[in-house]
Amino acid sequence: MIEIEDLWHTYMLGTPFEHPALRGVTLRVNDGEVVGIIGHTGSGKSTLIQYFNGLMRPTRGRVIVAGHDLGSPRADVAAVRRAVGLAFQEPETQVFERLVGDDVAYGPRRLRLPFHEIRERVRWAMETMGLSFETFKDRYTFTLSGGELRKAALAGVLALRPRVLVLDEPTSGLDPRSRDDLRARIEELRDREGMTLVLVSHDMEEVARLSDRVYVLHDGSVSASGSPREVFGDAARLAAAGLAPPEAAQVVQRLRDRGYPVREALTLDEAETALAALLERTR
Ligand SMILES: Nc1ncnc2c1ncn2[C@@H]1O[C@H](COP(=O)(O)OP(=O)(O)OP(=O)(O)O)[C@@H](O)[C@H]1O
Ligand SMILES: [Mg+2]
Repeated sequence: MIEIEDLWHTYMLGTPFEHPALRGVTLRVNDGEVVGIIGHTGSGKSTLIQYFNGLMRPTRGRVIVAGHDLGSPRADVAAVRRAVGLAFQEPETQVFERLVGDDVAYGPRRLRLPFHEIRERVRWAMETMGLSFETFKDRYTFTLSGGELRKAALAGVLALRPRVLVLDEPTSGLDPRSRDDLRARIEELRDREGMTLVLVSHDMEEVARLSDRVYVLHDGSVSASGSPREVFGDAARLAAAGLAPPEAAQVVQRLRDRGYPVREALTLDEAETALAALLERTR
């Protein structure tokens, strides 16, 4: 679906502020999988994903999305934009319609779809994000809570019905409950819709729980990749990239280091099961 090979990106090229943000990134996103991208602040994540839907075009390296070679001047960028929906960091800052329904409908309207299809897409996208269509479509956007506004903004991208949805820190800055709720919605997109997802996040638990494969970006390069278990299992390599495994995994690892016979765990659920098994034996 997305194939990137030896991609380089330099901001402000040829000025004293020249900054290499991507240095030879190679990565792929297969149909139907959830790919997590992690990396400390400034490692190049947001820069990289702008290549996924043709917002940026490669000057050095290859980017092929849904069969379109974005390095070619004749590439069908419109087709790439339709295939890949990109939700920016803090997408709610780009909500500008007065009514929620209008905001979610903005993209489909620009596609000049028939009225009933726009309505169905808006309904589906809002319900999928956990916003009741009937309750929220006529609400003023400024009356929504932060979490609701985030969901409305994501619904706007979803309403374009992309084959791939790219989420840049979808749950950052939300309270724990909204975060859990939004994560469950993302899980549903994966499990029920079989949607191809790219998830950029600073939340390691979230990435471990949702991703099939993970890439670690460090100073503009991929420093590790593999299954969540492989990537988070290599604590030394993660530390070199300024990251650490999910906290639940760290607790279990510390107990193991102290000699407790507890099974390895990655996510909070796995840690709970592993610790319950240990406690069961001592009851
Ligand atoms: N428009 C720009 N002009 C110049 N430098 C930029 C620009 N946008 C980003 N950068 C620099 O490029 C590097 C990578 O930025 P990017 O936004 O891709 O990082 P990130 O991994 O998404 O970080 P975060 O986790 O904080 O969102 C950073 O050092 C950043 O300062
Ligand atoms: Mg970013």
